Amino acid sequence: MPAALDIAALKKAFGNFATGITVVSTRDGAGNPVGITCNSFTSVSLKPPLVLFSLAKTAFSLSAFLRADHFGVSVLARGQEAISTRFATPSSDKWAGVSWHAWDRGSPVIGGAVAGFECRKTAVHEGGDHLLFLGEIERMESRPDRTPLVYLRSRYGHFEAEAPEADAPGEDDPPAC
Ligand SMILES: Cc1cc2nc3c(=O)[nH]c(=O)nc-3n(C[C@H](O)[C@H](O)[C@H](O)COP(=O)(O)O)c2cc1C
Repeated sequence: MPAALDIAALKKAFGNFATGITVVSTRDGAGNPVGITCNSFTSVSLKPPLVLFSLAKTAFSLSAFLRADHFGVSVLARGQEAISTRFATPSSDKWAGVSWHAWDRGSPVIGGAVAGFECRKTAVHEGGDHLLFLGEIERMESRPDRTPLVYLRSRYGHFEAEAPEADAPGEDDPPAC
């Protein structure tokens, strides 16, 4: 690593990139739900519908994600900050008292989320001190009536658009190149 790049400064610089917050989840070998707070989730492709997230090689839940065929993604809503904190804290009891349901292939999805996906794991790639998990979405739900939770500079908030929605590009508008 170049001497000029110190980790604390790098983390701070990365923190300028606003993200949503997800809980990515799966089951362990005994069938227990496993999940972590994750803001590295991103969409990758529409055809086929692919997403990815990166998982620290040191995560306790790594072995469950490596073993599982499927994983779930819950996009957290405004007001779910406590869930984000809970799933970012190593514990064997993360799911106690949390409302969740299972998709067809067993992936847990958090109740009240803005969107949920169940994905078939398609690839795992090296990524430094993380592994990149790619998955193809097999089922999804989306709740546009709920407000997504946003994370920026280590703080939670929500997004206020500067222009009214009518000014945003519509589905029929040509894509920006
Ligand atoms: C806002 C936020 C985003 C996070 N995003 C990620 C991430 O993308 N990948 C990751 O491996 N850990 C991420 N973490 C850290 C994990 O949630 C945390 O290390 C968790 O305890 C790992 O769970 P486990 O060790 O019980 O498996 C994030 C934490 C926070 C607070």
